[in-house]
Amino acid sequence: MYTLNIYFVFFIISVISCIHSRTHVNYEIKGDVAVIRMNDPSVNTLSVQMQREMTEVMDEVWGNSAVQSVVLISSKPGSFIAGADLNMIQACTTAEEVTLLSQEGQKMFEKIEKSPKPIVAAINGSCLGGGFEFAIACQYRIATKSKKTVLGCPEVMLGLLPGAGGTQRLPKMLGLPSAFDVVLTGRSIRPDKAKKMGLVHQLVDTLGPGLKSPEERTIEYLEEVAVEAARGLAKKQIPLTKEKGLMQKIQDYVMSYPFVRQQIYNTVQKKVMKQTKGLYPAPLKIIECVKAGLEQGPTAGYLAESQNFGKLAMTPESKALIGLYHGQVTCKKNRFGTPEKEVKALAVLGAGLMGAGIAQVSVDKGIHTILKDTTLEGLSRGEQQVYKGLNDKTKKKSITTFERDSFLSNLTGQLDYNGFNKADMVIEAVFEDLSIKHKVLKEVEAVIPPHCIFATNTSALPIKDIAAVSKRPEKVIGMHYFSPVDKMQLLEIITTDKTSKDTTASAVAVGLKQGKVIIVVGDGPGFYTTRCLAPMLAEAVRVLQEGVDPKKLDSLTTGFGFPVGAATLADEVGIDVAAHVAEDLGKAFGSRFGGGNIEFLKSMVDKGFKGRKSGKGCYIYQPGLKRRDVNTEALEILESYKLTPNAAISSDSDIQYRLVSRFVNEAVLCLQEGILANPVEGDIGAVFGLGFPPCLGGPFRFVDSFGADKLVEKMRKFEEVFGNQFTPCQLLLDHAKDPSKKFHK
Ligand SMILES: *[C@@H]1O[C@H](CO)[C@@H](O)[C@H](O)[C@H]1NC(C)=O
Ligand SMILES: *[C@@H]1O[C@H](CO)[C@@H](O)[C@H](O)[C@H]1NC(C)=O
Ligand SMILES: *[C@@H]1O[C@H](CO)[C@@H](O)[C@H](O)[C@H]1NC(C)=O
Repeated sequence: MYTLNIYFVFFIISVISCIHSRTHVNYEIKGDVAVIRMNDPSVNTLSVQMQREMTEVMDEVWGNSAVQSVVLISSKPGSFIAGADLNMIQACTTAEEVTLLSQEGQKMFEKIEKSPKPIVAAINGSCLGGGFEFAIACQYRIATKSKKTVLGCPEVMLGLLPGAGGTQRLPKMLGLPSAFDVVLTGRSIRPDKAKKMGLVHQLVDTLGPGLKSPEERTIEYLEEVAVEAARGLAKKQIPLTKEKGLMQKIQDYVMSYPFVRQQIYNTVQKKVMKQTKGLYPAPLKIIECVKAGLEQGPTAGYLAESQNFGKLAMTPESKALIGLYHGQVTCKKNRFGTPEKEVKALAVLGAGLMGAGIAQVSVDKGIHTILKDTTLEGLSRGEQQVYKGLNDKTKKKSITTFERDSFLSNLTGQLDYNGFNKADMVIEAVFEDLSIKHKVLKEVEAVIPPHCIFATNTSALPIKDIAAVSKRPEKVIGMHYFSPVDKMQLLEIITTDKTSKDTTASAVAVGLKQGKVIIVVGDGPGFYTTRCLAPMLAEAVRVLQEGVDPKKLDSLTTGFGFPVGAATLADEVGIDVAAHVAEDLGKAFGSRFGGGNIEFLKSMVDKGFKGRKSGKGCYIYQPGLKRRDVNTEALEILESYKLTPNAAISSDSDIQYRLVSRFVNEAVLCLQEGILANPVEGDIGAVFGLGFPPCLGGPFRFVDSFGADKLVEKMRKFEEVFGNQFTPCQLLLDHAKDPSKKFHK
């Protein structure tokens, strides 16, 4: 009885406080300035609740005659407003519903824009998407120089557009060309650039008296500066409209001619079509909205914006891209928990391209790293690579020269095993040969402490074969990085039956620290990524043998949405590597991995045509030259491997589906066999590691949206001609039989 009462009282209190206090927005009056603070319990997103509370607060502030001006600030460190609440959009089932959401946002920001009392947006941290649109509706913007401060509208990357006035306000603020650049690329804009572009009016300085870094400035300081500015604006000591510079005036003048604007629309449209092959509807809709606003006036512009926003939200492309976004968030978490011991000291074996790349992304995250090679020459090349990588960052101003030097002081280059007794983890990136890997493993285990993890970077050798000679196989794990390590986001971690959970948790923690998106897969030949890529490349070779030239093959693959064509990809991976992998996996999986003739690849390698790294592969590469010609000598080799194409399955579209279905079937088979833990990681691995078309969202989402039954039907047609390389796997057949079965809910 007693406890029940207590709970009852608590219940009443919480209900009352719910009514009287707002949970997302509150404000304080400081003299004649109202300071509105946003404090979403999670990250600040423009959720329904936030919008409702904001409207209430604005009405109170406008109605308060003591208030002359307003400051809008976030009490969340590191974020102004992160953007619109995606769940809000995903919960909608029709375009009309989404259009309504957009119109509500437009209305709210219009009120902000027309506010009789000037509003200052005080920005520290990410100010993206809807948050950015909010900020640009305000009369004045102040941003901190904090590293976390970024502005921009990334909606296009989610297959959407800035649907709360962004497509209408930006062209007026920045001029047409810059506005297109910002909205169509979705790129993040750093504070100093934003100031230069005229997106923000004032920056809060990096260094102040007694302060070492912008991070040490408190949020109170930003607020003080903003309150000061708000007063200045209200008293008209700070002008509301900035005098435009000469260049801006000239640009405005030029843009006042309709034919000049038309020219720009055409140029931008062409560029978009070239880059997207017409596979991404969002950029085209963005151009439409901007054009409607400028040519037909604001009413038409805002209407076009809200309607197109609604339409885009319903497209499979947007659903695919949003799925990838969520997947990426998932793959940036450690589903294996916190490791018992943090990895603070790392040793990397092999100072090649990979090894040095791994060292670079480790030292710059504060991990002490030993880089070991067997030759002085190899070592100094690797050290140079790390130096160059970090130095390039100073040029881009993402780190200071001081930071570069302190990171480098944490890199130890050496030829011996000195210091390995203190290592928490060793990553070996030595030559892809089982006997060499065994030798290295034994040498390393003789010098490392008992808790130290041994991670092996390999693209195809099964980890259990490498671990076979280990004294403590529970500490052995695979870490498959992608080249170039500092640019490619994916890390594929491979566990064997014997790998312990704590070892996995540690490897994931290190990868996350290195900034990677991580999938954790089971052991087996080719793991997940290599295993999916190999059959597609085998098919590409067959297509070449059928007389399709490399350029055409490339355009068929990029036309399907792959960022890199199949022939170019083979050159990038390396023809020798492709031959090697094809042979290994062919042995493991038999004729299912057949298709093109491996002998053709071997003949290429014999001639020294190993792909980009050797200057010749399917194409000829010349330093400093962007244009590439087809390597005619490779075509001559191809002559002796010629196949007669079967007209029934050799249309452009057939070729595309032959390539893609082999990839997709193998991916589904990996899920069926338990190599993959779930479809999300399968999609992320394929898109981030192999360039599977992002607009399709990955092989699993592709099956869901294309239809497993339709895919199976196509594969059966190819199977009739080529046999078991196209036999759909059981899981795919299950999905084909029952259309309610989906990989993604
Ligand atoms: C900006 O946010 C960071 C957290 O990302 C915080 O440490 C810093 O104090 C804030 N700076 C200002 C000027 O508000
Ligand atoms: C160097 O490595 C140590 C050990 O991991 C770490 O505590 C320290 O912060 C690193 N130094 C720099 C400048 O990153
Ligand atoms: C590490 O893995 C990558 C990716 O497959 C491979 O290209 C590279 O050769 C490996 N590194 C070494 C030096 O074995």
